[in-house]
Amino acid sequence: MLLRLAISILPFVGSALAQAGAAYTDPDNGITFWGFTDPVHHVTYGYIFPPLADNSQEFIGEIVAPIETKWAGATPGGAMLHNLLLVAWPNGNSIVRSARYATDYVQPTAMSGPVLTDLPTTKVNSTHWKWVYRCQNCVSWSTATGTQTLPIDSFGVPAWAWSNVGVDTPSNPQSTFLEHTDFGFFGLDFSQAHVSTALYNNWAAGGTGGGTPTGPPTTTTTTTQPPVSATPYDYIVVGAGPGGIIAADRLSEAGKKVILLERGGPATWETGGTYGPTWAKGYNLTKFDVPGLFETMFSDSNPFWWCKDVNVFAGCLLGGGTTINGALYWIPPYSDFATTTGWPSSWGNHQPYTDKMKSRLPSTDAPSPDGKRYLEQSGDIAAKLLDVQGYRRLTINDNPDQKDHVYGYSSFDFIGGKRGGPVATYFKTAKARQNFAYRQYAYVLNVVRNGAQITGVKTNDSSLGPDGFIPVTSKGRVILSAGSFGSPRILFRSGIGPTDMITIVKNDATASPNLPPQAQWINLPVGYNVSDNPSINLVFTHPSIDAYENWAQVWTSPRAADSAQYLKSHSGVLSASSPRLNFWRAYSGTDGKTRWMQGTVRPGAASVTTAYPYNASQIFTITVYLSTGITSRGRIGIDAAMTARPLITPWFTDPVDKGVLIQGINDIVANIKSVPGLTLITPDNKTSVIDYVNNYDPGSLNSNHWVGSNTIGTSSAKAVVDENTKVFNTNNLFIVDASIIPQMPMGNPHGTIMSMAEQAVTKILALAGGP
Ligand SMILES: Cc1cc2nc3c(=O)[nH]c(=O)nc-3n(C[C@H](O)[C@H](O)[C@H](O)COP(=O)(O)OP(=O)(O)OC[C@H]3O[C@@H](n4cnc5c(N)ncnc54)[C@H](O)[C@@H]3O)c2cc1C
Ligand SMILES: *[C@@H]1O[C@H](CO)[C@@H](O)[C@H](O)[C@H]1NC(C)=O
Ligand SMILES: *[C@@H]1O[C@H](CO)[C@@H](O)[C@H](O)[C@H]1NC(C)=O
Ligand SMILES: *[C@@H]1O[C@H](CO)[C@@H](O)[C@H](O)[C@H]1NC(C)=O
Ligand SMILES: *[C@@H]1O[C@H](CO)[C@@H](O)[C@H](O)[C@H]1NC(C)=O
Ligand SMILES: *[C@@H]1O[C@H](CO)[C@@H](O)[C@H](O)[C@H]1NC(C)=O
Ligand SMILES: *[C@@H]1O[C@H](CO)[C@@H](O)[C@H](O)[C@H]1NC(C)=O
Repeated sequence: MLLRLAISILPFVGSALAQAGAAYTDPDNGITFWGFTDPVHHVTYGYIFPPLADNSQEFIGEIVAPIETKWAGATPGGAMLHNLLLVAWPNGNSIVRSARYATDYVQPTAMSGPVLTDLPTTKVNSTHWKWVYRCQNCVSWSTATGTQTLPIDSFGVPAWAWSNVGVDTPSNPQSTFLEHTDFGFFGLDFSQAHVSTALYNNWAAGGTGGGTPTGPPTTTTTTTQPPVSATPYDYIVVGAGPGGIIAADRLSEAGKKVILLERGGPATWETGGTYGPTWAKGYNLTKFDVPGLFETMFSDSNPFWWCKDVNVFAGCLLGGGTTINGALYWIPPYSDFATTTGWPSSWGNHQPYTDKMKSRLPSTDAPSPDGKRYLEQSGDIAAKLLDVQGYRRLTINDNPDQKDHVYGYSSFDFIGGKRGGPVATYFKTAKARQNFAYRQYAYVLNVVRNGAQITGVKTNDSSLGPDGFIPVTSKGRVILSAGSFGSPRILFRSGIGPTDMITIVKNDATASPNLPPQAQWINLPVGYNVSDNPSINLVFTHPSIDAYENWAQVWTSPRAADSAQYLKSHSGVLSASSPRLNFWRAYSGTDGKTRWMQGTVRPGAASVTTAYPYNASQIFTITVYLSTGITSRGRIGIDAAMTARPLITPWFTDPVDKGVLIQGINDIVANIKSVPGLTLITPDNKTSVIDYVNNYDPGSLNSNHWVGSNTIGTSSAKAVVDENTKVFNTNNLFIVDASIIPQMPMGNPHGTIMSMAEQAVTKILALAGGP
């Protein structure tokens, strides 16, 4: 198990190293800790262990936090799930703390096993609070799938969590609290964080002093890199999500010399991935291949697929979001590319591009290869509810422009019962071409430019070019496809964007040397006016529902008949992700604007809040989102740790959006009594819909459908890229990903993103001056 933990954190080690922990001695107690001070909130997290040879199960740790920190958490194992979580906060002059444990991204509960002892220098003063503790029984613990152990003899990536919102009951160590408002990681060489038994025992008993780092002295390694001469490319594409893959495939098809750079590793079996469930061992199936494993993306102990330096969910591996998403796949309606949704008029004729996409990647609403539908109860019940409200059933992707009072089977881009998407199609054809190169685990830090002319990109991999630099040819071009958070960060680090963001880069010791001089900074509204669908979950029960154990068994012990069927023919329940039915309805807001509501129906539920008992085997969820027409906007950017994040969240900044969603929810639940046996359990009958929406955890409104951070438009005052997707005031820098989409598309966005990419790459190829 130790091995598994160590291997799966490796992909983050590179980026975490930039934030590496080091030894320091706390002046209050003279203890030498190995730890890290996060540069944004200035909280220090430290750890020190007895000698490895002692085979000990304990460590001493501390959290030192400025007083505005309402609570802070430390996770030496690095992941939130199935890990030791230590949380603390001040209560008057004392520190209240506990060890917690989480099996899902919900409130962590008490962890039995660890024994915590506060050490004497624990304190609260006028500016700080400080918790110094001994944690016994804290090095390994058992989880549902085996024993987990801290990597105390090697490198690890501990995490921290932080909040400026107070816990609910400060005097109670087991108090509930809202989700952290921030979190992060740092690299730590645990193998060095050990002291002698005598010193450790003295500190553990409350003694002070005597500490000096015992690790080997810092050695100066002269890295004599073999000389590398990088080949110039016609096109460098950064990021292998749906945008980047389609761009790279079409450019290489046109004969251009292309390199596609991806920070993450392989995913599906076909691409070299190996991380699969035990029950499928020997069948060449990974977590990313089997559609029915989708819900386990959120409940795994080592979720290496998320971008660790983006503080919302984003996929950082081949395929980007399309490798870890639910694969709901919608053929875009006309409005997705209309001037009314912010597109330049030259984009209105999307049909030829959508057709190209459909011919490469068809959609299916019956993903099981045997043509049968499985686990349909939740869709059937929801359909009954919608029927009485005048909805009609149709095949959604055969009628993309019909999005009012309609419902139909959920539609996916699975192929043959496995994850398909752009990786199984476009990437495959690109990969076969001689003029196409693909490099994984290649992290692009910034573009290198001489004023408006981009000369190449700087990566973290010096085997790709001198100092990691990869050049473009004299007429060559760079295309950023690093996603709604990744592409803005690369722009900031290249001196492109609002001055406040570039100034953060300038103040970062590692990033600032790569910034162009201030006179060459390009001021564009990167990160402004982003949107994402606000979404609210309604949880119901009905006696006909099979909640499928809330998808909790599919990774370790699926129903035997279902796994056998899947292994035999890739068919059955496990050949689809969780959604079963989708619906849309148009609403007119009090401001006279039209907004569309979307619903997604699935068995199971992410969380249930009710005052009453209920039968968990009969739960299902309707997620209600607001899509096209939404007027709320937010802002995304980076913080001093270079983590990409929302600076202003984009949900319900306009109260009319909220009003429309409340109306939509009221309409959905209005006819519950017409369906015998149907009960709404969250919100329960003691909670009004308005209160439920008003008190909804803001972080949970996230749909992971971010668009607009590098919006397309006709003026550099209001847009980042022009109608050819070229970044304003540059000669040869383009963006092809979700970030250029100006407003929320009608459905879950990746179909729209791929049609957009088809059109964008056609425009780029047609634009004069290129290679
Ligand atoms: C949990 C979840 C569920 C979702 N479910 C659905 C769904 O069911 N249907 C749907 O349509 N949409 C869904 N989405 C949204 C959809 O997946 C995204 O909108 C889509 O993937 C965005 O595509 P993109 O090309 O803009 O960027 P991404 O898919 O984010 O791809 C960006 C790529 O760039 C790489 N990258 C980033 N920075 C760098 C760098 N500096 N150097 C090198 N490489 C870099 C990343 O590793 C990644 O591979 C979901 C998203 C999430 C997170
Ligand atoms: C409070 O404690 C912190 C941490 O030990 C220390 O840095 C700070 O100077 C103290 N503040 C005051 C006002 O003594
Ligand atoms: C799995 O893949 C290997 C090659 O990677 C192949 O030899 C083997 O036959 C495959 N097994 C199955 C069950 O497809
Ligand atoms: C570059 O960064 C990626 C992503 O963080 C990482 O997997 C890779 O190991 C790094 N490469 C080097 C050479 O450090
Ligand atoms: C809960 O639901 C399951 C599945 O419908 C059913 O088999 C079981 O009897 C129910 N339990 C109770 C206590 O009603
Ligand atoms: C609320 O729901 C519970 C359980 O579902 C039920 O026992 C109770 O009678 C309901 N109350 C009202 C006012 O409907
Ligand atoms: C953001 O959108 C608002 C309207 O929603 C508009 O007034 C403003 O100019 C936009 N800002 C930018 C930078 O595009």
